[in-house]
Amino acid sequence: MSHLLRRPRRLRSCPAIRDLVREVSVRADDFILPLFASEKVASKTAVPSMPGVFQFTTDELVAEASAAAEQGLRAVLLFGIPREKDELASSAYDERGIVQRTVRALKKRLPDLLVITDVCLCEYMSHGHCGMVARDAGNFHVVNDASLELLAKTAVSHAAAGADVVAPSDMMDGRVRAIRDALDGAGFQNTILMSYAAKFSSAFYGPFRDAAESAPQFGDRRSYQMDPANADEALREVALDIDEGADIVLVKPGISYLDVLWRVKEKFAMPTAVYSVSGEYAMIKAAAQNGWLDERATVLEMMTAFKRAGADLIITYWAREILEWIKK
Ligand code: PBG
Repeated sequence: MSHLLRRPRRLRSCPAIRDLVREVSVRADDFILPLFASEKVASKTAVPSMPGVFQFTTDELVAEASAAAEQGLRAVLLFGIPREKDELASSAYDERGIVQRTVRALKKRLPDLLVITDVCLCEYMSHGHCGMVARDAGNFHVVNDASLELLAKTAVSHAAAGADVVAPSDMMDGRVRAIRDALDGAGFQNTILMSYAAKFSSAFYGPFRDAAESAPQFGDRRSYQMDPANADEALREVALDIDEGADIVLVKPGISYLDVLWRVKEKFAMPTAVYSVSGEYAMIKAAAQNGWLDERATVLEMMTAFKRAGADLIITYWAREILEWIKK
């Protein structure tokens, strides 16, 4: 057998050669840590379906972000849980709202940490939908154009508080343009817009809705989030968002949508983010807690797969653990 011409195993024979020929790798600069700020908790409160994830007070959240920044983390993604919800999502664009206050506190204490805010209405709406709801004869629908105004106001209030990046996750049509116009009109030309461009209607968001207290009170999100079966449509959604002014495009969820991530990166060559969502976190955590999976190895393999599939940025609840694991 010594005449074998091709011996791929030569390049796998020792750590040094494996390291030299590795095509992609994860690095600290890839990661964004999602954090939940709550107006309702007196101190940090565990999210049962997401072990290791907490709802924080503003002060605690700043402390958490500061510890993460010390580990080398470059960016956080903020979600807010307000005390009051109504049918106009008033606390979403209140300048004293939970996200706005937390952004100010973060930028004051950690000016170099990039602060990204999730722009959506679901946490602030009493019905839990991502836009305004109109009811007629026992039915309801989520109103598109009227919701754009509230989303734009929310994004501007985040930018005014000091957010570096706003990230609309609502999936209303035309929201990227509405938000870009509103930001520019208010003098925030330099605020970056990362759009959840291909966001699917996914069962993997379940645990997040516990964390953010944002489950819809009736119906579901299938009239605005995308059908998991549609990848061509995802490309059309991404094209629209780029045309409307998105600086970074995002695919969500992660592991079940690697094909979409790959096609988006191949087709548009834009800075591309992936959101490894709450359900992906919960299932691996649960398996690891049972001793069924090696958490570190599984998570690093998954993150490598995101990079291989084209992700430039990765949003993950594991960001802090990963920074510890990949520390040289
Ligand atoms: C808000 C929003 C959701 C997530 C991020 N932003 C929930 C949803 O659309 O229902 C999910 C994140 C996760 O599951 O980790 N619209």
